[in-house]
Amino acid sequence: MNDRRREICERAQIRLEDMLTAVNDGGLDTDTADKVVENVLGTYGLPFGVALNVRVNDRDRLVPMVVEEPSVIAAASNAARMVRAGGGFSAEMVESLMTAQVQLSEVPKPAAAVETLERERDHILSLAASAVPGLVRRGGGPRSLEVRDLGQGNIVLHLFVDCCDAMGANLVNSVAEAVGEHAAGLSGGVLGLRILSNLCDRRRVRATCRVHARELVLSPRSGDSRSSRPPPADVDGGDVVDRIVAASRFAELDPYRAATHNKGIMNGIDAVVLATGNDFRAVEAGAHAFAALSGRYAPLSVWRRDGDDLVGELELPLALGIVGGTLRVHPAARLALKILGVESADELSMIAASVGLASNLAALRALATEGIQRGHMSLHARSVAAAAGARGQEVERVAETIALDGNVTLDAARRALEELRGAAH
Ligand code: MEV
Repeated sequence: MNDRRREICERAQIRLEDMLTAVNDGGLDTDTADKVVENVLGTYGLPFGVALNVRVNDRDRLVPMVVEEPSVIAAASNAARMVRAGGGFSAEMVESLMTAQVQLSEVPKPAAAVETLERERDHILSLAASAVPGLVRRGGGPRSLEVRDLGQGNIVLHLFVDCCDAMGANLVNSVAEAVGEHAAGLSGGVLGLRILSNLCDRRRVRATCRVHARELVLSPRSGDSRSSRPPPADVDGGDVVDRIVAASRFAELDPYRAATHNKGIMNGIDAVVLATGNDFRAVEAGAHAFAALSGRYAPLSVWRRDGDDLVGELELPLALGIVGGTLRVHPAARLALKILGVESADELSMIAASVGLASNLAALRALATEGIQRGHMSLHARSVAAAAGARGQEVERVAETIALDGNVTLDAARRALEELRGAAH
């Protein structure tokens, strides 16, 4: 692990002491944690790793990931390598605006109220801007509004806010609260909730990639990944492309499959979101609401064949920040941003989406060929070996034994450990 830490520090130009200080003890000391939330008993650690081979918009990135599931980081790194061979991921923000909602009910004349609120747009926007002067100074702020008639005397005012490099929940809530009374007065209705919407579909990221069929059947380079073995020899790259496209179509047809397909995407995205101290509940809520926006829950990504290439496209709302919030207090989250080398929240979103697409590709490739269990099990074997008491180099040896036997259980790991230790004496 120390060699790995040194290498990442060298590549990200970080001092090793700084990395060690940031990642020790789960990256957050108990006294600080006690000031972040309530009734604190301690902190709760999760593995903090790094995905390799991730090239986004022609720039290579080391991508910190926090995740408890074995194989997620290795599989994303391996899929990112396949994509990198064809030039890497392309990503863009479709828009970058958060949505504030103001609920107005018992509106006597909804159609007239919608018109009035739209006509008063400039005044409402300047009221909104006055609630976030710091954001306006930084070049952000409220940009536009829309009014939606929900029927039966209910209307909702949406304000779209550019939150620059913040996730923006507090900014957006301030904006909603600042305009609430005025909007209610204009509508003649009763003021209700004033809060952001986590379905931030005006802050969307799109990532695409192209992988040549031959890349899908190459073995991972040693050190890149312990998962994602090449498919069986009788399966060629073209078959893998077709099978991945068929897997995509399955998700497009069936919400039960789409949920699992999207979970595979969120494996990558959530891990980056967590590593960078962002709000994963907000991201999850937005992603799944967006997936269901058509009225039918759908996959967030689709895969198609283009000649000999497999082409993937992912689009979802993603509200991430690189300033404020947890970042103020969490050394490991700040370290994650340094390792990434991002300069804007948009850049972070584009990288997170690319890792989501990589995770999705890795899962579909495994599922469409040898199935997920063999690869999963051989990685899971390491945590089973550790749980059985294996330490240091024993972990790999015990894991290898139980994985090869196809018996990844605690009992088998204990037996393998006893044998290993017996043989050593
Ligand atoms: C497991 O964490 C994720 C997968 O189930 C995703 C998928 O089925 O596409 C393998």
